Amino acid sequence: MKNELVLILDFGGQYKELISRMTRRLNVYSEIKSGKISAEEVKKFNPIGIILTGGPNSAYLETSPKCDPAIFELGIPILGICYGMQTMCFSLGGRVETPNVGEYGRIETNTVAHNSVLMQGVKSPARMLMSHTDQVTQLPQGFVRTASTAHCQNAACENVSRNLYAVQFHPEVELSDDGEKVMHNFLFNVCKAAGSYRLDDYIETRVKAIRQAVGTKRVLLGLSGGVDSSVCAALLSKAIGEQLTCIFVDHGLMRYKEGDAIEAIFSKKKLHFIRVNAADRFLKKLKGISSPEEKRKIIGAEFVRVFEDESSKLGDIEFLAQGTIYPDIIESGGEFGDTIKSHHNVGGLPDNHKFEGIVEPLSGLFKDEVRIIGKMLGLPDSLVYRQPFPGPGLAIRIMGDITQAKLDLLQRADHIVCEEIGKLRKKPQQYFAVLTDTRSVGVKGDHRTYDYVVAVRAVTTSDFMTCEYTPISHKVLSKISSRITGELANVSRIVYDITSKPPATVEWE
Ligand code: XMP
Repeated sequence: MKNELVLILDFGGQYKELISRMTRRLNVYSEIKSGKISAEEVKKFNPIGIILTGGPNSAYLETSPKCDPAIFELGIPILGICYGMQTMCFSLGGRVETPNVGEYGRIETNTVAHNSVLMQGVKSPARMLMSHTDQVTQLPQGFVRTASTAHCQNAACENVSRNLYAVQFHPEVELSDDGEKVMHNFLFNVCKAAGSYRLDDYIETRVKAIRQAVGTKRVLLGLSGGVDSSVCAALLSKAIGEQLTCIFVDHGLMRYKEGDAIEAIFSKKKLHFIRVNAADRFLKKLKGISSPEEKRKIIGAEFVRVFEDESSKLGDIEFLAQGTIYPDIIESGGEFGDTIKSHHNVGGLPDNHKFEGIVEPLSGLFKDEVRIIGKMLGLPDSLVYRQPFPGPGLAIRIMGDITQAKLDLLQRADHIVCEEIGKLRKKPQQYFAVLTDTRSVGVKGDHRTYDYVVAVRAVTTSDFMTCEYTPISHKVLSKISSRITGELANVSRIVYDITSKPPATVEWE
């Protein structure tokens, strides 16, 4: 699977993961490495191509990150993107300057060399995402300009005989017209990729690797019910069956009947599944606590304690498994290696852990690839396409202090919200109910009531760093409102949250 590799050398670009995702989507495997890697190290990977990412620096400054100039002499095709273009051109004798005007957003870009290898078949003009202040004002010798914009003459350039290509725009983002075509041209016309990367044999290869590394020893996995740990459990169960023990700590703060659903799926598999019903323990610790941060700290600490208590009852287990995925590794600045590592701290593991090794069979995959593997392993859609759910669970969706009665109420209100919004063809990325700590007067039958206000939240986002509230139709909102107030006692009013992030956050606490 790894015999055809594109190396992505990182200079601090915010879209580096998107570059890797795009090549993989085009069936070419890629990995992200530091931009400081030496040409000798690059050679060891034997890549069919190299992509230099964007970054926040000015290429002409002495302090800015640079790649080993010997990389340009290896004869391996290289594509520089944004800062990657600037550092490549600067390093090869071109000029990079900071003009008065930068370009930000979708900028009309014209192909100016109609025999360009990289821009072949790309529409002109195309709107390409630009996000730069600096630009290449003089090309290095041997390069020709292939695209221009109103404020950036050298929006793309190439030196075909040396296999060096560069674009000032970002082909890796959806906002660029024909960006995928540019990437396709680089991978298939320049690097001559075969495009053989598929996930089809992923399960088989990993199963073999896990069996080989683990032998007859035992493996322990903390199963949260999230996508990553669930797929990890299913894969490990296929590989080593009863040598695997999964501990699912049910803190009682899950959604409606979610703990039972997780148990139903995993207790059927050939593995040791332990569900720890720790709701009482968590509720006791949370009693009277209203501060969101305090709630988070208490839940995090109690989680570790319950896990330790349970695992100590199991006797010696040699390996610990984690559902670490590739973005976790990229974000923690680590390097993805083999399935089995003796040690690394992505999962927040203490340095002095007692395990012989850590098993991370998903650590080379992106989230959407993990979902594909989950489906291939036969996990249900409800698990594989589960929307993000915070570790502290419903505790941070109950404003103020937490009681069992409030938890029951929120679980049922949330279930109604999920059922109704879940029927939409195009679903928001996250949707849920919040139990506010406000009560309001109402009337049910001939009685005055004084009951809770439930808030409904639904957000549209691609990265959860920012979000917009989703304009759910009034018809759906009315249905939710009448169902919650009709089916649940103690709720007098439903409100819909129409705040984006910023200034709000996705969660209420
Ligand atoms: P916020 O509320 O920060 O949420 O805009 C962004 C995303 O992160 C999730 N979230 C959490 N996830 N532990 C988690 O594991 C937490 O404490 C936590 N707080 C928020 C939230 O659900 C959303 O997807």
